[in-house]
Amino acid sequence: MLDPYHPQFIVPERTALVTGAGGYIGSTLASQLLELGYRVIGYDRYFFGKDLVSDLLLHPNFEAKVGDIRDIGPEDCEGVDVVYDLASISNDPAGELCPTLTVSINSVGRSRVAKTAREAGVPRYVLASSCSVYGASSGLDLDETSLCQPLTTYAKACLDCEHQVIEMARPDFTVCVLRQGTVYGVSRRMRFDLVVNIMTLNAWRSGALSVTGGGDQWRPFIHVSDTAAALRALGLADQDRVQAETFNAVGENMKISEVAETVAAALPIDVRIDHVEGNLDRRDYNVNSDKLKNTVGWVPRMTVASGAQEVFRSLEVGHVHRCPRSETVTWYKSLISNSNVLLR
Ligand SMILES: NC(=O)c1ccc[n+]([C@@H]2O[C@H](COP(=O)([O-])OP(=O)(O)OC[C@H]3O[C@@H](n4cnc5c(N)ncnc54)[C@H](O)[C@@H]3O)[C@@H](O)[C@H]2O)c1
Repeated sequence: MLDPYHPQFIVPERTALVTGAGGYIGSTLASQLLELGYRVIGYDRYFFGKDLVSDLLLHPNFEAKVGDIRDIGPEDCEGVDVVYDLASISNDPAGELCPTLTVSINSVGRSRVAKTAREAGVPRYVLASSCSVYGASSGLDLDETSLCQPLTTYAKACLDCEHQVIEMARPDFTVCVLRQGTVYGVSRRMRFDLVVNIMTLNAWRSGALSVTGGGDQWRPFIHVSDTAAALRALGLADQDRVQAETFNAVGENMKISEVAETVAAALPIDVRIDHVEGNLDRRDYNVNSDKLKNTVGWVPRMTVASGAQEVFRSLEVGHVHRCPRSETVTWYKSLISNSNVLLR
């Protein structure tokens, strides 16, 4: 098995354009690429603030381009070897705030990135999609050929964009898609609206965490550094192995009630688990990543338990904290209502 962290993956003199580089996954990916010797163009509206990536801004090989993917042009792709397309309204509730906006960014905007990259002669494009495209699935162990039944505007826009970018594949333009599980772990743009992170935060704050949506719903999970490694690996894999292909990226599948038990058991404090009555969550999918592992040798390094411990330690030392910017939907709601900045 090839290890995506192996020195053979170190490719100096390569330029990556990362859309969404100011975000939770994008800032982690950008940092990994810089460590490996890439030149990185971080193309983003930086809705969560450039200050979150202040260390990247100081790096000599990092260039922050403040721009909207709905306006990206060929000049933004000059000299680029690979585009990692991560910019989006990044979860289900935020995606419902203004569905037309979500479609215009997550589907139309990202398709524009792919089309612009192709026209500018960029040889490779990787789309950061989501396992939420499987939606209300039936059965376990879904693979990339399984039926997609997206339930939300966000998930539908992901699937729509996947179809559009895959259609753009050409011999001189390699396109592939990574369907990421629900991500967890510490990042510069910390997100406390992701289930493992929220449960850990609540346990740390109050010694209790909550199970909502019934608890029996399956979800695939992946650590933020592992999904960044998967994106990198796809950016370098041989064209004939990844061209026009879709890959799932998952470390572990767990029911939400199991996540609660795992997080509670992993932390160095006593944690009570509360089951909150309410509507059942219909989003239910259990997904395998065999194709990704077999194609590019990707192996996840972190687990939900070790990720919860990492978040807990970071909270303890004050390295991360809950703030308006760590709640995606609240933050976008305030951007939309205060300044209409997103709608333009
Ligand atoms: N975090 C997860 O659990 C998860 C799971 C599956 C898929 N994904 C997908 O991975 C990608 C990255 O997710 P994330 O968690 O890092 O999200 P994030 O919200 O932290 O980052 C998204 C970034 O995109 C930028 N952005 C939004 N609209 C833009 C626009 N029109 N033009 C330019 N920049 C814009 C934002 O400023 C932000 O920095 C997203 O496409 C998301 O849908 C995330």
